[in-house]
Amino acid sequence: MGKVLVTGGCGYIGSHTLVDLIENGYECISLDNYLNSDPSVLDQIKEITGKEVHNYPVDLVDKEALSKVFQEEEIEAIIHFAALKAVGESVEKPIVYYRNNIEGQINLMECALQHNVSHFIFSSSCTVYGKAETLPVTEETPIASAESPYGYSKQVCERIIVDSIHNKNMTACLLRYFNPAGAHESLKIGESPINPPQNLVPVITEVGIGNRKELKVFGDDYDTRDGSCIRDYIHVMDLADAHTKALKFLESKQLVEGQAEVFNLGTGKGTTVLEAINSWEEVSGDCLNYSISNRRAGDIPAMFADYTKAKEKLGWDPKRGIREIMATAWGWEKVRNKM
Ligand code: WQD
Repeated sequence: MGKVLVTGGCGYIGSHTLVDLIENGYECISLDNYLNSDPSVLDQIKEITGKEVHNYPVDLVDKEALSKVFQEEEIEAIIHFAALKAVGESVEKPIVYYRNNIEGQINLMECALQHNVSHFIFSSSCTVYGKAETLPVTEETPIASAESPYGYSKQVCERIIVDSIHNKNMTACLLRYFNPAGAHESLKIGESPINPPQNLVPVITEVGIGNRKELKVFGDDYDTRDGSCIRDYIHVMDLADAHTKALKFLESKQLVEGQAEVFNLGTGKGTTVLEAINSWEEVSGDCLNYSISNRRAGDIPAMFADYTKAKEKLGWDPKRGIREIMATAWGWEKVRNKM
């Protein structure tokens, strides 16, 4: 087995997936330009796994530098995380998002095909479904028109992969994440956003630790059990496990060459914003400072997954719920603030 190239390997989901891959015996290399990550995470990965992971500090839009990596390394599989992913920022800077996410995908796929990479696993998102008419969301749920340049770049990248591997000897998995959150149980790695986080769970822990004044709950007048939005929060280590299982699925040659398979990665359980706050309060023993504010543009009332396909085909079954997510996210926030 050649090496597994993890793009965005120093990022949040990439670093946790590297840990799981290494613990499953894979030899991995990382490619990360540190735009939204820190090289120190590689030291923590070594502490957890005992293995050094080499990172190529390359930008995917630099085709020449990217090609050199494929000339120097024998790469058999790619897990592609490296992308810009802030929904709000993508609305302000669409060209930056299209260039980075789509041009980067094209360059990576060109190199992969030129160098006979066998397997490609793509970090996609439930965002591609938009506001789903029926819940839970299955892989057959129609793809809606994207609500943001970020979401559209994910839809385009999925299509680039499907069309590029057709009639080639490569197979692919497109993994549509719901809401990733939490941290590795060692609390040596976790979500370390370079820019102020926008996602609910890191905002809650920032407020909890005192680095942010209050949490604004974006609306409590939705048609849900308590009026706040419902999401399917998936623990990052359950997500990491799914990537390793997806790679094993591709290696088992259950797909014909040129085939790509889509999988939803969520727990199937919805949690409201107010329930998430309550979970943090139970775990921390503190009261969170929050207020109800206006709805956020683009938010949908409810979104949660049907992961039957991943369970049946990948043998994947997420083990951790919102409580474990909050316990590890809070533990990690305290470690980051040396408390
Ligand atoms: C969750 C809920 C907010 C912050 C996005 C992307 C998705 C994926 C995950 C990349 C919503 C509410 C949040 C706050 C709040 N990213 N909220 N106050 O929007 O479901 O999904 O991140 O793959 O692709 O679309 O996640 O964490 O921003 O919001 O009330 O300060 O928390 O309204 O209901 P979202 P989120």
